Amino acid sequence: MKFHVITLGCQMSAADGAETAADFRRRGWQATAVPAQADAIFLTTCSVRRHAEERALSLIGRLREWKAQDPRRLLVVAGCVAQRLGSRLTKRFPHIDCVVGARHAGHYAEIVAEALKDRISASPQAMPKPLATPRGAGIPLGGPVQHLTIIRGCSCACSYCIVPSVRGSESCRPVEEILDEAHARIQNGARELTLLGQRVNAYRSDGMDFPDLLRALDALPGLRRLRFMSPHPTLCTDRLAAAIRECRTVCEWVHLPAQSGCDRILGLMRRGYSRQQFLDTAERLRATVPDVVISTDIIVGFPSETETDFTQTLTMLEELRPATAFCFKYSARETTPAAALADDVPAPVKEKRLAAVNAAVERLTRQALDAQVGGIVEVLAETSTFGRTRTGFKTRWQSPAAAGDLISIRVNSATRRTLLGDINEPNTP
Ligand code: 5AD
Ligand code: SF4
Repeated sequence: MKFHVITLGCQMSAADGAETAADFRRRGWQATAVPAQADAIFLTTCSVRRHAEERALSLIGRLREWKAQDPRRLLVVAGCVAQRLGSRLTKRFPHIDCVVGARHAGHYAEIVAEALKDRISASPQAMPKPLATPRGAGIPLGGPVQHLTIIRGCSCACSYCIVPSVRGSESCRPVEEILDEAHARIQNGARELTLLGQRVNAYRSDGMDFPDLLRALDALPGLRRLRFMSPHPTLCTDRLAAAIRECRTVCEWVHLPAQSGCDRILGLMRRGYSRQQFLDTAERLRATVPDVVISTDIIVGFPSETETDFTQTLTMLEELRPATAFCFKYSARETTPAAALADDVPAPVKEKRLAAVNAAVERLTRQALDAQVGGIVEVLAETSTFGRTRTGFKTRWQSPAAAGDLISIRVNSATRRTLLGDINEPNTP
């Protein structure tokens, strides 16, 4: 049985895809990068914005042809769109064999294997018995940089966001399970782990909170770097800042989603902070963690956002000075509280504001990259000539290094998004 995995959406969706691929392998299936050679396609989907959902639906539509070439082929649709639309998906796309929603993330493989067991045994290469290996052993080599989901779901009440209704409320994985998985991933080649959760710093389990978990993971031998995303600004405590500063592996990069710089809009978004409180949080982080680099998320064109409100977002960005930002046009999502508000910012205005905010971000990124030129940075090689700094800057160099090594790079110049340099000297600890 050969399978092909396609992931759309956030890193959590990508992590779900990678985990499912590992579980399929444990069951004796083989991964293929070529859909034409696959007996099964496993697709995880995103519904955070309408555009993301449309992308998923259009891909499912196009896979009709793949399925028609051999009706024994299996198409499995998982993730947020599967959760939201459920059986409406199979009605619209009868060529789907199995729909499994995001609330089952972490158990996709067993659900798929059970739901399709008769079909799988009739497939061109029937499924052999599951391998008798412990859970961690199924985790793929996956390269030196891997993700690890620590919280599923979200208990936040941001008015624009569909995630809590799609993925359900927050559920934290037990500390032991996380430590075991981290250990297994390190054994299988991971050198950098990114902890994932919609509100990753809301973690609480077995008497430990998020800073405690960072400290516990920091002690794992073989781990070189630890990142996390996305923390919620209201939960960025002094204890968290201290853990970032004090933990050897925790990187000096924090993705801190602002969403807006206007108090009135932040109130309507139900973010739980004002512009000044947000900026103070960033300032406190910077005071505790020297050279920390901040990135953020911005939504433009939220219902009732005026030109003056939007200007507040632009001036907030100038104060925050993020190294980068992901900027989105507001997209009204069914069942969210904000969907009850008139989506009254016209599409061309949203477009204009998005372009303006992206231009500001481009300039801030340029400045952040230029500030690195002439310096020496520590890079974790993800391939022989590409890696990232602790602060998250993409970096390229010429003479090949071994993937997984920490190397020292002298930065000579920067393109739009990437630092370019030469290996300074081996810096492996
Ligand atoms: N419209 C536009 N952007 C959204 N995001 C979440 N929901 C919406 C929406 N309805 C953005 C936020 C969030 C990121 C993951 O997606 O900026 O931080
Ligand atoms: Fe998209 Fe949110 Fe689901 Fe991630 S959790 S795939 S961003 S809807």
